[in-house]
Amino acid sequence: MPAQHPCIHSYAEYEDAYRRSVENPEQFWAEVAEPFTWRRKWDSVLKADLVGGHNEWYSGAKLNITENCLDRHLATRGNKLALIWEPNDPKTRQIRYTYRELHQQVCQFANVLLNNGVEKGDRVCLYMPMIPQLAIAVLACARIGAVHSVIFAGFSATAIADRVNDAQATVVLTSDGLNRGPKQIPVKRVVDEALESCPSVRRVIVVEHLGWPVHMQEGRDVWYHEEAQEASKSCPAEEMDAEDTLFILYTSGSTGKPKGVVHTTAGYMVWADYTFRNVFQVQENDVYWCTADIGWVTGHSYLLYGPLLSGASTLMFEGVPTYPDAGRFWEVIDKHGVNVFYTAPTAIRSLMATPLDNVLSYSLDSLRVLGTVGEPINEEAWHWYHTHVGKERCPIVDTWWQTETGGIMISGLAGISPLKPAHAGQPLPGVQPVLLTQEGQEIEGNGQEGYLAIKFPWPGIIRTTYGDHERARQTYFGPYPGYYFTGDGARRDEDGLYRIIGRVDDVINVSGHRFGTAEIENAINQNPHVVESAVVGYPHDVKGQGIYAFVICREPVGKTDAGQVEASIIETIVAEIGKIAKPDKIQLVSGLPKTRSGKIMRRILRKVAEGETSNLGDITTLLDPGVVEEIIQGKK
Ligand code: WTA
Repeated sequence: MPAQHPCIHSYAEYEDAYRRSVENPEQFWAEVAEPFTWRRKWDSVLKADLVGGHNEWYSGAKLNITENCLDRHLATRGNKLALIWEPNDPKTRQIRYTYRELHQQVCQFANVLLNNGVEKGDRVCLYMPMIPQLAIAVLACARIGAVHSVIFAGFSATAIADRVNDAQATVVLTSDGLNRGPKQIPVKRVVDEALESCPSVRRVIVVEHLGWPVHMQEGRDVWYHEEAQEASKSCPAEEMDAEDTLFILYTSGSTGKPKGVVHTTAGYMVWADYTFRNVFQVQENDVYWCTADIGWVTGHSYLLYGPLLSGASTLMFEGVPTYPDAGRFWEVIDKHGVNVFYTAPTAIRSLMATPLDNVLSYSLDSLRVLGTVGEPINEEAWHWYHTHVGKERCPIVDTWWQTETGGIMISGLAGISPLKPAHAGQPLPGVQPVLLTQEGQEIEGNGQEGYLAIKFPWPGIIRTTYGDHERARQTYFGPYPGYYFTGDGARRDEDGLYRIIGRVDDVINVSGHRFGTAEIENAINQNPHVVESAVVGYPHDVKGQGIYAFVICREPVGKTDAGQVEASIIETIVAEIGKIAKPDKIQLVSGLPKTRSGKIMRRILRKVAEGETSNLGDITTLLDPGVVEEIIQGKK
């Protein structure tokens, strides 16, 4: 019988847990960690360092996270559904695995990896559709101590190559193709193109999904189903150190190329499980559905690890919310009796824009808890979700967190905390948020706004950026020594509830996907027509933020050629990053507003993109103030 994990059941219990987590964090997190399966317990609970960014949790402990996700549930939940898979096309077959079956599948995949020479510590990149084998493969890596690095299957070949090379991955897992709504995409072909410039990769394991013929490179590529024939369905779990790397996940920052956020084994496990159980209040017989792709952190923590650690039944969906029609989410909820549903504001906004009948024709009776993640939810979307999906009976947890935090940081606990539209709410136990002035002074009291920072480590805190600790230190611990800096601005209302305002750095959040403006500019600048570019975000009704690119071309471009040049720029971005980074607007300009020292004044470009040109502030320090008028005239 697995030991019982304590769960918060009332607001008084939340307050008590929060107080204990602040007064005596080590004792608190030792108690939370106790019921997991450990091969060896920790020597110390926490070694904190918010200056150098060297934070360690449960040092000295030995464990394997998959024993906690799978093995320890077998005695009591062996026949319970662990993973329910809903395909892209509602008319095709669903797949359901019990905990026992999922355990066998993971062991078998783990043996395939071992048979292909994957060793503890090796990096394995996954570029796969949302099919059960993706979940299984991630867990298989963890089973044998290989580091998984999932690359969202919408990124381009160049973006894959950047990540594979940065991680120095030796093995890549992929499939023949993927379904996305009405489209089929030949993912293996994208991987082949990427690997032309990835010398570290010596093996590609291909999962058959669409049954498409693919090119198999002799000596490098093998089919999973052929390898699996020889592979046993039992595989002992590798013993891992608490601080051994569990995964790398690439995410965009305000400068340079995407960085590999590193999470380690024990702290991430405790944090994913604790936050999942307490925020969503999932009950034993619930069906839980998180719509995120495993290519993003939400899919890691709340489709896969959190639910499985807690012994929940987690639903995985291959498709998109609008296929075959805009009622698909609601159809899936009714079909599987989903009780807890977690999605992104951008999905809600895109469905809101379709006829209400799409949602009203489903009962949605099974729903008890709703959640959102990824970007601020506006009040209109919140009310639509609350009224038409939750039928005013389901609490909404608005969960604020980041790839770097490993799990939810600020959020209501479903049915326990006060609900306030568009407010993430209160910090979870263990999270000590503060608002800082730009100079780094803590802002006391309620009804205040500032930079959001965290002043004490929590178990899921980012450990490093892969291969470059200095970058992690500078980005997260450098701006305000002694604090983890989030990059977000926030307001603490009169009742102490947090509302996230958005990024205060050069990161934009498009449909819940993070991009650095510099990253998109670098891509645009690869285009042969382009001399220089500047990218800013602007408010977008469905995506939250849209991408607005101001571009200077080598030759003056006439009106007739502009369309062609813009199309060519889009092509370059799609090739460098992927379709998800396509700009919404491209404006060709002859100059950019720069200070005399050559710095682009993005503040002005942001105002132009927002259409707020009446009050541009002081532009007299610009090298050429005339350029601003030209940009305003040409605004898209
Ligand atoms: C934003 C996604 C407002 C925020 C889990 C953060 C949010 C960035 C919320 C991280 C929320 C995430 N309300 N904003 N509930 N959740 N964000 O790394 O700007 O993809 O810094 O992690 O998304 O994005 P990431």
